Amino acid sequence: MLILGIETSCDETAAAVVADGVVTMAEELATQSGVHGKFGGVVPELACRGHVEMIDRVVERTLEKAGLPAGALDAIAVTAGPGLAGALLVGISFAKAFAYALGRPLVAINHLEGHIVAPVLSGHDLRFPAVALIVSGGHTHLYYVEGIGRYRLVGRTIDDAAGEAFDKAASCLGLGYPGGPAIDRVSTGGDLSRFSFPRPMMGRPPSSRPAHQAFDMSFSGLKTAFVRAVREQGSGDRAHADLAAGFQEAVVDVLVEKTLAAARHYRVRELILGGGVAANSRLRAVMADRAAREGYRLVLPGPRHCTDNAAMIAVAAFHRSHEAPMAALDLNAEPSLAL
Ligand code: KG4
Ligand code: ZN
Repeated sequence: MLILGIETSCDETAAAVVADGVVTMAEELATQSGVHGKFGGVVPELACRGHVEMIDRVVERTLEKAGLPAGALDAIAVTAGPGLAGALLVGISFAKAFAYALGRPLVAINHLEGHIVAPVLSGHDLRFPAVALIVSGGHTHLYYVEGIGRYRLVGRTIDDAAGEAFDKAASCLGLGYPGGPAIDRVSTGGDLSRFSFPRPMMGRPPSSRPAHQAFDMSFSGLKTAFVRAVREQGSGDRAHADLAAGFQEAVVDVLVEKTLAAARHYRVRELILGGGVAANSRLRAVMADRAAREGYRLVLPGPRHCTDNAAMIAVAAFHRSHEAPMAALDLNAEPSLAL
């Protein structure tokens, strides 16, 4: 079964053809980070325009690379949400027209489900039940996953997403956008313990709180502490490396502890990591180490499949195509679509 995946929820225009839900035949990705870089974050109107300019070329090149005529496709899958409304609409409109013209089914996919199934693209098999941490520029969500299509949100950030915190910290150090990879790079060789940043909501929850809030997270206080520390300490490469390393360590610490706490609580042995921040080298190393020492099987996509891509949308569609009804041609963008 050949599925064309289309992803335009944020600032990457992406298409991929995936065979039988595992083998990527071809993929193309046009990034707009150069466009948004000077604004320090994604500008929705510019993202939307960028997708309009790129989408047909990206799909055409994907099919060319795969060496396939469009008629060979069995289904067209597209991200329906969550994401930027205008950006999503470009992918959805294109996918609808393409599916209609080819007489093939259209499959609407939740972007977060794409991140959960992405590890199969790196050769992993998914086993359930599992706890999945999806951590990106827009999301920091912990799910209890009973199986594909069966997700329960058990924790989330109550303010900023972890990726957003990385982006803000990087911009504070003058490192540009996207900030996560820059912080990751600058932290190498930095002293993790010179600056100790707060790890909010790491303690036990007050007994008045519902139990599930034990897995909630918060990153805005950390961001404020970081901005203050940079103002007080921050000039020179040495200070920047130490500040970045200390900040990264605090984020990683929170993400790892919350994920393991949820895994213990729900008695699962499988951990799934996804989203752009899962490309972070320190998060990968600490999570892998803890998982090995505490007896969990960690399923980690390769860095390329952590960040937004269209292959993961096609994989999710492959699993959906057996049971879910096909999307109708009045499919709309759902910027806050929940999983
Ligand atoms: O999943 P993604 O590509 O797009 C969203 O759905 O948001 O994630 C993008 C986010 C950005 O905030 C970016 O700074 C962060 O992922 N990111 C990283 C790394 N690579 C990307 N954060 C930390 N370390 C990285 N190596
Ligand atoms: Zn994403």
